[in-house]
Amino acid sequence: MKVAIIGGGPAGLYSAILLKKQRPEADITVHERNRADDTFGFGVVFSDATLDNFEKYDPPSYRRITQEFAYWDDIAVHFRGTVHRVGGNGFCGCSRRQLLLILQERARELGVKLNFETEIDDEARFADADLVVLADGINSRFREKYAAHFEPKVDLRSNVFTWMGSTRPLDAFTFIFQETEWGPFIAHAYQYEVGRSTWIFETDPETFKRAGLTGLDEQQSAARMAEIFGWFLEGHPLLTNRSMWRKFPMIRSQRWVKDNMVLLGDAKATAHFSIGSGTKLAMEDAIALSDAMSDAPTVRAALALYEQGRREEVEKTQHAADVSLVWFEHVDRFWDFDPVQFAFGVMTRAKAITYDNLTLRAPDFVGQVDKAFARHVRKQGFDIDVETPLAPMFQPFRLREMTLVNRAVVSPMCMYSAKEGVPVDFHLVHYGSRALGGAGLIFTEMTCVGRDARITPGCAGLWNDEQESAWRRIVDFVHANSAAKICLQLGHAGRKGATRLMWDGMDRPLEQGAWEVISASPIPYFPDSQMPREMDRAAMERVKAEFISAAKRGEACGFDMLELHCAHGYLLASFISPLTNQRSDEYGGPLENRLRYPLEIFEALRSVWPSHKPMSVRISATDWAEGGITGDDAVQVARAFAESGVDLVDVSTGQTVRDAQPVYGRMFQTPFSDQVRNEARVATMCVGNITSADQVNTILAAGRADLVALGRPHLVDPAFTLKAAAWYGAKETFCPPQYLPGKDQIFRNSVRDRLDFEELKIKAKPKTRAELKAEATKPLAAE
Ligand SMILES: Cc1cc2nc3c(=O)[nH]c(=O)nc-3n(C[C@H](O)[C@H](O)[C@H](O)COP(=O)(O)OP(=O)(O)OC[C@H]3O[C@@H](n4cnc5c(N)ncnc54)[C@H](O)[C@@H]3O)c2cc1C
Ligand SMILES: Cc1cc2nc3c(=O)[nH]c(=O)nc-3n(C[C@H](O)[C@H](O)[C@H](O)COP(=O)(O)O)c2cc1C
Repeated sequence: MKVAIIGGGPAGLYSAILLKKQRPEADITVHERNRADDTFGFGVVFSDATLDNFEKYDPPSYRRITQEFAYWDDIAVHFRGTVHRVGGNGFCGCSRRQLLLILQERARELGVKLNFETEIDDEARFADADLVVLADGINSRFREKYAAHFEPKVDLRSNVFTWMGSTRPLDAFTFIFQETEWGPFIAHAYQYEVGRSTWIFETDPETFKRAGLTGLDEQQSAARMAEIFGWFLEGHPLLTNRSMWRKFPMIRSQRWVKDNMVLLGDAKATAHFSIGSGTKLAMEDAIALSDAMSDAPTVRAALALYEQGRREEVEKTQHAADVSLVWFEHVDRFWDFDPVQFAFGVMTRAKAITYDNLTLRAPDFVGQVDKAFARHVRKQGFDIDVETPLAPMFQPFRLREMTLVNRAVVSPMCMYSAKEGVPVDFHLVHYGSRALGGAGLIFTEMTCVGRDARITPGCAGLWNDEQESAWRRIVDFVHANSAAKICLQLGHAGRKGATRLMWDGMDRPLEQGAWEVISASPIPYFPDSQMPREMDRAAMERVKAEFISAAKRGEACGFDMLELHCAHGYLLASFISPLTNQRSDEYGGPLENRLRYPLEIFEALRSVWPSHKPMSVRISATDWAEGGITGDDAVQVARAFAESGVDLVDVSTGQTVRDAQPVYGRMFQTPFSDQVRNEARVATMCVGNITSADQVNTILAAGRADLVALGRPHLVDPAFTLKAAAWYGAKETFCPPQYLPGKDQIFRNSVRDRLDFEELKIKAKPKTRAELKAEATKPLAAE
């Protein structure tokens, strides 16, 4: 077998090593345009888990790599004169040059041919090769040559960064957030060998310009950075090596394989440096390729297997990197946070690290986070314990004169079980049991303002006396038997109306008994959905009157709060999104116009809803579709509602158009709540695939939302909050007297369960290499 590898970076060299080990008879050549020791950059970083992989696949190179490594355990966050350190992270740093020399040496030993100073510009010279590995890095010539096939997408990010070095020793992965007269600068720094550390500096383009960095050469810009970070460098110089400022390209390719050619490493996909995974991904690609080559009967089959098996893992890492880079791009959002909350945000930005996980590793740090959170709550006038505070989920919250005993919310969820819009016994039990389960706030399902405003024939409504009295019975039950508040969500289905019950085909048009549907513009939801009638002024007035009447009935029922549903493609959402609003009157066109009708309704409701009671609006903060609403638009939407008196923005996403492409994942909508809250400066509630109290606490403690709603988790577990209260020791959490023996038991058992769980977690966690090294070098205690 003949293998040609283009590019002698980590991906090219490691794939050469693994393939040669697997097939000693193969003729494998790496072609690299640079000289053997001619490499850019300073250090690279690997996690302990990545090193475990290297140990398994090639122990000799692993041993040499780990002999050269610097280990550390802590992450240190410097911000506004404070430093917060968190241990247990298990990272290793190594010089990139050294890593490549080790891999070259190992490849040579195995009989791989290394062809340096050879720039490949045409793969035709490898016509006789069985396999051609394209490991030619971030600017891959071959990915571009076959762009029509690989379909790469390059997203050039906004921030600029440069990679420098220093002799400053560091004992932790160090983030420095530096305020300057020009704006914020960030340093990501770590030691990779004795007396050498990597320094990646990052800033936004405006700060870059204001700081006079434009047009400076390497030495001059190093001097400027040394001035800014001089207080930390303690006289150590900054070193340069092709340290140009540039923007990070986030690269994704639709295909990785063409005939017998395969893209590996940065050539196929990149991951932002803030999660330090570029070299890891490159080398793990090599591992995946060698696994596929050993499992499949032919090269083509192996390449298909590689792409199929590897893509999910790469995309997951890229998603984490995306979330992380967005955090760094928007660091100014958090600049006025309490430093400990800011540090918590840094630690938890990419979702892998959470409140509970940090509690295990750094209980003092989390203790400080809790105290800062509690101090903030106390400033809002709550008489709470700030010395031994409860977890953020169990801190109270106030909107106008409505006080919530905790921050867990039952998200609005249609039950499709009403009879002619009248809530039935099912609803009483459903809402009642969730209120008994301890959530601070319960939302009703979307309650429709008229018969023709319904989504399905099973939707609840509030347009007649019978419905009003059924809702009053539910509200009275909640108030009489729980500490929960209850919010009425009012909506109109618009073009998604006259559809079937969820279990008969969500959003599919009714086959019989349909009513006429209306929308901002005459665009059907599915091609075979009913064509909606474009609303004229008379229809707008009629619907507004229906909303006002329903709100008045809501007040008569005793609801504590009112939410206007402007999300998920229903009537008011159809005005906001440019994909569903193509009107040429003053309600169409720019966002300001598209918001006009939803705001008219909101203001009309605000004027009849009692001023001491709060109002919220649910929005779809993105359409997840080309040309649709984006997070930036959502900030404008939130600002407009805030000016009209909204107290809370309930941030959901999507469900507005059929061809949306949402990026699902844990807490996937929370970044939008974060953006709205910290840019528009309004209180937010987030929702969407939040499944644990740990996640709730992580979101709240990092300041990404003020309230957290859970939908599906509450469907299967009405007592979600009470159980979480037992876990976190929030003893005062309400429980109906009838259930107190159950509360006593779960609170008692939880203490032991939690200790057992933590012990198991600690036992199950292998020691980090830094811990092992520290143990090995510890002087023996005197007998
Ligand atoms: C600022 C910065 C910081 C980073 N920090 C880290 C970190 O801390 N940890 C980490 O793991 N990763 C880090 N990375 C990422 C890491 O450097 C890359 O992700 C990794 O090197 C990718 O390996 P690769 O083999 O795919 O590509 P490369 O290392 O770029 O190797 C590609 C090779 O191909 C050669 N080549 C290109 N075209 C040709 C051609 N036509 N003919 C012959 N040879 C060719 C190039 O000379 C190069 O040697 C960082 C990257 C940047 C930019
Ligand atoms: C069965 C069901 C019905 C829903 N009905 C509504 C609704 O009436 N109003 C609304 O705003 N959202 C509705 N949603 C969306 C939820 O409120 C929530 O935003 C979504 O389920 C994501 O949260 P989760 O991952 O916690 O379930 C519904 C969701 C489900 C699963």
